[in-house]
Amino acid sequence: MVELSVWAPAKINLHLEVLGLRPDGFHELAMVMQSIDLVDRLQLAASADGAITLACDRPGLPTDGSNLIVKAAELLRLRAGLPELGARIGLRKRIPVGAGLAGGSSNAAAALVGLNALWGLGLGGSELHGLAARLGSDVPFCLAGGTQLCFGRGERLEPVPPTACRSLAVLLIKHPAASVSTPWAYGRLRELRGRSYLSGEESFERRRDALRRGPLLQALAQPGPLPTLRNDLQAVVEPEVTSVREGLALLRGLPGSLAVAMSGSGPSLFALFDDQSKAQAAQAHLATDLQTVGFESWVCGFRASGVMLEP
Ligand code: C5P
Repeated sequence: MVELSVWAPAKINLHLEVLGLRPDGFHELAMVMQSIDLVDRLQLAASADGAITLACDRPGLPTDGSNLIVKAAELLRLRAGLPELGARIGLRKRIPVGAGLAGGSSNAAAALVGLNALWGLGLGGSELHGLAARLGSDVPFCLAGGTQLCFGRGERLEPVPPTACRSLAVLLIKHPAASVSTPWAYGRLRELRGRSYLSGEESFERRRDALRRGPLLQALAQPGPLPTLRNDLQAVVEPEVTSVREGLALLRGLPGSLAVAMSGSGPSLFALFDDQSKAQAAQAHLATDLQTVGFESWVCGFRASGVMLEP
């Protein structure tokens, strides 16, 4: 029986700017996304019975057709015109769920890459990208990974070369009981800021160009301080979610951090450091406070790639 494994890394947002509203009802975004080495693992085996089954080591995670992994598998075999293909999929879950870290999107991207190989379909990068974009706005980024500018709904990628992006260390925190609905966060932003959204391709392009040439990418290309990170969803989530307010206050008080922000629509939060030892020292410094308020924490590094077949 052919079997293979795929790594599925999480992401953080180094920049999340909402430009305006699109004709399809989604928001037009300008983001910088970064893969990190907090990683789930999918194990795949072909099955002869045409069934797609998913088992997960995290109790409570849906493993039926509502899971993005199963949706990815079904979409892929439909696209290949081979609906009789089957697979047994095992998921070792390390990325917190519903956290703004694209764990589900990365799992879906890993299923596309893994099953394309397992089933010998030979689909190319652009075909996989198209399927990824149908599964979710963050899935194309998760396929490519590394450091990318992400425009459109999030699916239009422009890579930032690894040479232009230094590798930083991340202290990530999340309250296990907190969760934020992404549609709610975008809906609330629209209520509060909708009237001042930009409109028109020309004004969107001006903002994209400002990000391409702006202080964040310049600062990532060399040692030294980082500018304040921008996440437009943070402004609507921070006032409403206690754990986000508490967590940001803890991270902002840390000595030696380069920047602090919420990832995606939250509620996970991160601080960036020059190296792992500084991030670990910060984690130790906060240990008592994190325990008191019940936060989980992880130290990890930037990753130069997205989903990857295990060699
Ligand atoms: O594409 P994805 O399934 O991740 O999007 C989840 C939800 O987030 C959408 O249904 C929409 O409410 C919101 N969203 C948005 N604009 C985007 C991406 C997501 O409004 N560019």
